[in-house]
Amino acid sequence: MPIADPEVLDNGAAVAERVAALLLQARQEHPQLPLGLATGRTMEPVYAALVRLVQGLPTSERLDLGAHWRSFNLDEYVGLGPADPASFAAAMERHLAAPLGLARARLQLPDGLASDPLLEAERYGAAVAAAGGIGLQLLGLGLNGHIGFNEPPCAADARCRVVTLSASTRHQNAGAFGGSAQAVPEQAITLGLSEILAARQVLLVVTGSAKAPVLQRLLQDPPGPQLPASWLHRHPAVTLIVDRDAWGRG
Ligand code: GLP
Repeated sequence: MPIADPEVLDNGAAVAERVAALLLQARQEHPQLPLGLATGRTMEPVYAALVRLVQGLPTSERLDLGAHWRSFNLDEYVGLGPADPASFAAAMERHLAAPLGLARARLQLPDGLASDPLLEAERYGAAVAAAGGIGLQLLGLGLNGHIGFNEPPCAADARCRVVTLSASTRHQNAGAFGGSAQAVPEQAITLGLSEILAARQVLLVVTGSAKAPVLQRLLQDPPGPQLPASWLHRHPAVTLIVDRDAWGRG
């Protein structure tokens, strides 16, 4: 079943509000199912909107949310730990765990400092499976069509593993490393398409004009390894939320 037509909202702020509301709804309606979370610039306003939403809840609901929070992030750079501000663990702490007062252990990520990254990828994939898989998986879209750090080419059955990042992705993510693509780690641990496609629901979020070409490719191309996000056409419950700039059709 191809990905349904997107919800096209006016701007990134509107997208962030909408996505935050859906994340909160998923947490409240299915507290037993872990959320799948993503990092990146697209998600920063989403988490800011989620924090505002949660802070507006009655105290009892806020405490309940904190007590039952459970999420697994998609990925982490090999070699970076939470003490490094460029790590995804640090980003999650900054944007979500600290402002919401969530215990760090409630937000899981692959351990970028594990002495054996291959084993860590196996452990992390098994931890997601042991939790019953992901309920709602939040996804951003890489300029080359990656989701998580599943770089092209990528098979639909790729599991949680260590990947080598493409030059384009290291360039895309250089902002967190003082603008230097060379400073971006060469490898990462990422959930695979296998775990992503097993999520009950997927929420794909695309904002900004730079993503317009890859979004058009995604909507036109059949599923295939050259555009990893295109495997989402095979998922039965994908919600695509974009802003006008990414939609690019006036
Ligand atoms: C990154 C992350 C993805 C993210 C994507 C888009 O490299 N691994 O999880 O969704 O690329 O990033 P951004 O939102 O900064 O454009």
